[in-house]
Amino acid sequence: MDELILAIESSCDETSVAIIRNGAEILSNIVASQIKSHQRFGGVVPEVASRHHVEQMTLCIEEALLQAQVTPNDLTAVAVTYGPGLVGSLLIGLSAAKAFAFAHQLPLLPINHMAGHIYAARFVQPLAFPLMALLVSGGHTELVYMQADGQFEIIGETRDDAAGEAYDKVGRVLGLKYPSGKEIDELASKGKDCYHFPRAMLNEENYDFSFSGLKSAFINLVHNAHQKGESLSKEDLAASFQASVVEVLVTKTLRACQNYPIKQFVLAGGVAANQGLRQALTQAFQEQLPHVEVLIPPLRLCGDNAAMIGAYAHVALKQKAFGQMSVNALPSLAF
Ligand code: KG4
Ligand code: ZN
Repeated sequence: MDELILAIESSCDETSVAIIRNGAEILSNIVASQIKSHQRFGGVVPEVASRHHVEQMTLCIEEALLQAQVTPNDLTAVAVTYGPGLVGSLLIGLSAAKAFAFAHQLPLLPINHMAGHIYAARFVQPLAFPLMALLVSGGHTELVYMQADGQFEIIGETRDDAAGEAYDKVGRVLGLKYPSGKEIDELASKGKDCYHFPRAMLNEENYDFSFSGLKSAFINLVHNAHQKGESLSKEDLAASFQASVVEVLVTKTLRACQNYPIKQFVLAGGVAANQGLRQALTQAFQEQLPHVEVLIPPLRLCGDNAAMIGAYAHVALKQKAFGQMSVNALPSLAF
């Protein structure tokens, strides 16, 4: 009999519900974005996010079931993100999942959001271990080594800002809307790396990252130019910023992948949607590690969505990692 999982994601500013068959097939993946409500504040406002999740959750569950043509009786389990993320947002998803599981007598699977990001690659190809994942999102920048399903070893991470956070902060200086990663990516494709910003920790013998120095260098350049009444090209600024981020991410990732035995490399998280990064990584693996299979999820599965939660739920179900009704939201959940 088919395994059908109803998955719920509400860790930040997307309310999402998906129905996943056998951990590999998306029957529906509803994503209700709240981004327009947060843009005027220049970032996600937790209280506003929670209220939107309350409004959207039931509608998203109904729509996901309808699109998948599945009834609650057909389901095997309910999966839900329980961390990391905003506590109020997580609690809405968790409460909805508990209520649904209780009402329909289904097991509950609490899922780590970051594990979900990695398993978005499951919709490209079955995962083959050992693998290395580069997780780049608004809150995380990590190199994760995996020797088996559900085993996560962080071998390097950012010492300060996450890559996505750096994109959003420099975007604000350029007067762009939040989140600005996508727009900077588009501007970068039309500019040149003429400012050559620093490449932090590039030659250090570890797999850690740092983006706060780059952010400061960018902000100083823009402010100094502003004071002198000079105007700088947004395209060149974006291209120079992106060149620094991409070079550091690609160099450190390739080094890690050369030093660890791996079959696959997975790019994951919201910043995985970055065209410059996708191209540079694909090319670097082709040239330097052609035996490694590179998995990059399609754009719609890079940002937050419930399909990825359903993909990891397949592993959690096999491992019988069930949650009790007392399971709580964990805003700082780590692997
Ligand atoms: O994974 P995600 O959707 O949410 C978190 O779990 O954090 O990641 C959101 C982040 C934001 O910082 C956004 O600016 C960034 O991903 N992002 C991008 C691109 N698309 C989204 N950054 C660079 N280039 C993009 N094309
Ligand atoms: Zn995320």
